[in-house]
Amino acid sequence: MKIIITKDYNSVSLEAGKIIADEVEKNPRAVLGLATGSSPIGIYRYLIACHKEGLSFASVTTANLDEYVGIPAEHNQSYRYFMKDNLFSHIDIKQENIHFPDGSATDLDAECARYSAFLSKTPRSIQLLGIGANGHIGFNEPGTPFDTETHTVDLKESTIRDNARFFSSENEVPRRAVTMGIKNILQAKRIILVATDTKKAQAIANMMKGDISPECPASALRLHDDVYIIIDKSAASLL
Ligand code: GLP
Repeated sequence: MKIIITKDYNSVSLEAGKIIADEVEKNPRAVLGLATGSSPIGIYRYLIACHKEGLSFASVTTANLDEYVGIPAEHNQSYRYFMKDNLFSHIDIKQENIHFPDGSATDLDAECARYSAFLSKTPRSIQLLGIGANGHIGFNEPGTPFDTETHTVDLKESTIRDNARFFSSENEVPRRAVTMGIKNILQAKRIILVATDTKKAQAIANMMKGDISPECPASALRLHDDVYIIIDKSAASLL
């Protein structure tokens, strides 16, 4: 693991954004695994700025980590909507190159199998990740075996509470999601995890220094040989 500790959210975004922009520049057909949440927004702003300076995403393919079950893609709290709003509508990516697990599919098991098969035949150059305060990556909650592929998940109460900040009330937060599994995440050639704030410090410490165990899903990243952990001083405060 390469760990980069910087001063704040903006510098985390810059460090991570540069790695992704360099990859797209070197490899215009890069496949990017993307994440939602507040952590990647600054990275997406940086990529949009790079696009304004001439970086093209016209041949890039993206694969998002996860999606809620039970809210349609057009809903303003869906992860599809989030990505459109924060990145896709500001760059020249082609619609047909944007991929998500479909949380509205009628047969969710078939949808999970489809997405895993797609991920296996479309190797990601980079997988971007945030981390939940309980150590989750994507929506792989504590207890998820490391060999799990795309699956539906019942969100933990703590995750529902954490994500309620994006909704008008906790009741509106979907209880289920579809997520890439840890096995799918580890298939990416390079992984970048970003985190800021003291509320992530315990999860970062568990990920880097605790046991490699499903109790801390992010600890699985220690089994991968090309991982960047890019965090601010506050998130690093328990290391
Ligand atoms: C959600 C997402 C995760 C994300 C996490 C942290 O649960 N499914 O992919 O990493 O939130 O979000 P934030 O970056 O807003 O703290």
